[in-house]
Amino acid sequence: MILEEIMKRHSGRAFSNKPVSDEMVTSILEAGRWAPSCSNKQAWNFIVLRDKEVLSEAHEALSGGNAYGKAAPVIIIVAAKEDGGCSAHNLPYFMMDVGLAVENMLLQIVHLGLMGHPIAGWNEAQLKEITGIPKEYRIVTLILIGYEGDISLLDEVDQAKANRPRIRRELSEIVHWEKW
Ligand SMILES: Cc1cc2nc3c(=O)[nH]c(=O)nc-3n(C[C@H](O)[C@H](O)[C@H](O)COP(=O)(O)O)c2cc1C
Repeated sequence: MILEEIMKRHSGRAFSNKPVSDEMVTSILEAGRWAPSCSNKQAWNFIVLRDKEVLSEAHEALSGGNAYGKAAPVIIIVAAKEDGGCSAHNLPYFMMDVGLAVENMLLQIVHLGLMGHPIAGWNEAQLKEITGIPKEYRIVTLILIGYEGDISLLDEVDQAKANRPRIRRELSEIVHWEKW
């Protein structure tokens, strides 16, 4: 009953070095662009890193725990202005816009037979310096993208993380029918 892409999506750590075509990258970006957003503000911006030299500069900005991401042949940086979303309820809706676009992209990535892993562990100032993202934009996430590779080639820590089961809170814990 659940969409296959939703259940197959996982934040794996083993990326193969098989290249990802520009056509695939464009379809991932298109999927992001068609996300809903508050007042159709579309707060998202996508910065695509594919060039080997740029990627290796960006690798320096990854946190130690995300070093496995250096094998991903494509990284999409998702950036937005903090005032780029709608202002309802004084909530930071730009984050919701971006989140919806990211999930659209992650599902498209699975649909294409690829793996996408969103991360928050990186140095924002360093990434902005490398890519020229203007100072008024915040980097919300990086999506590591590639074909899934061989988990046995990861170091022990990443192998353990890659092999752990995906878990979620039960519906009974989070759903309230009619009243909380
Ligand atoms: C906003 C956000 C930030 C994340 N940051 C990291 C990160 O820095 N490093 C990492 O390995 N995974 C990161 N993840 C992946 C989560 O750990 C992962 O989505 C979660 O454990 C659920 O696993 P699943 O995606 O395989 O279902 C992040 C996910 C999100 C949505």
